[in-house]
Amino acid sequence: MSLPRRVEPELLDELPADDPRAVRSRGDLRRVNRLMGTHSILLRALDTIAPAASRMRLVELGAGDGTMMLRLARSRSQNWPGAKVALLDTQPVVSADTLAAIRDLGWEVEVITADVFDWLAHLSSDTGNIVFANLFVHHFEGERLSRLLTGIADRTRAFICCEPRRSGLALAGSHLLGLIGCNAVTRHDAVLSVHAGFRDNDISALWPNEAFWKLDESAAGLFSHLFVARRIDR
Ligand SMILES: C[S@@+](CC[C@H](N)C(=O)[O-])C[C@H]1O[C@@H](n2cnc3c(N)ncnc32)[C@H](O)[C@@H]1O
Repeated sequence: MSLPRRVEPELLDELPADDPRAVRSRGDLRRVNRLMGTHSILLRALDTIAPAASRMRLVELGAGDGTMMLRLARSRSQNWPGAKVALLDTQPVVSADTLAAIRDLGWEVEVITADVFDWLAHLSSDTGNIVFANLFVHHFEGERLSRLLTGIADRTRAFICCEPRRSGLALAGSHLLGLIGCNAVTRHDAVLSVHAGFRDNDISALWPNEAFWKLDESAAGLFSHLFVARRIDR
């Protein structure tokens, strides 16, 4: 099935952070991420980029409630001791418990409440960070998507994103999320997310200065699309 890419506003981005429907939807997303195998997909990608014992500086874009970073910390706090991590999102929805749990594992964590474009505009071109995102890049299209990818490429040594796969199977799955108890917000956004998702070389085609990067883009798991960019000049 060939689905044209279509990006529409998602409800979770528009609801106030403390709206009970949004709170519930963020809980749903934790279950959706489990179903999509996101944690394993991201770990595998991170392991290929950052060997054990390396000094890790990790920034997550559109980090939501920060629980994916906590799961990564639980799995890799021994490999990357003392990692410095940042959670960026427009919504301040990381709980004190999540932050404390990340710190208890020995990682330094900072919450950045900002729009990604404002953050990129104020960040120097420090290429020491690894940047990753989950269920985030598909929010953008056209000039904004190109600007996002170029802004990230200027300020990182590696970028990973795990996004919905624009496929018939993922679309069918998105229509079935009511079966695992997801609320109307999650069900609505999930279908939109698949239509806004990626396939083939969608993201590589927009990544700048390809000669300086090793790019990998492929299907991951049943429902995801993984893009990994590694700078090759360092
Ligand atoms: C679908 S949620 C995914 C959250 C989290 N990554 C997860 O997997 O549960 C997308 C997140 O992106 C954030 N977001 C949307 N547009 C943004 C922007 N322009 N800058 C920063 N964050 C944004 C939303 O607030 C939301 O938390």
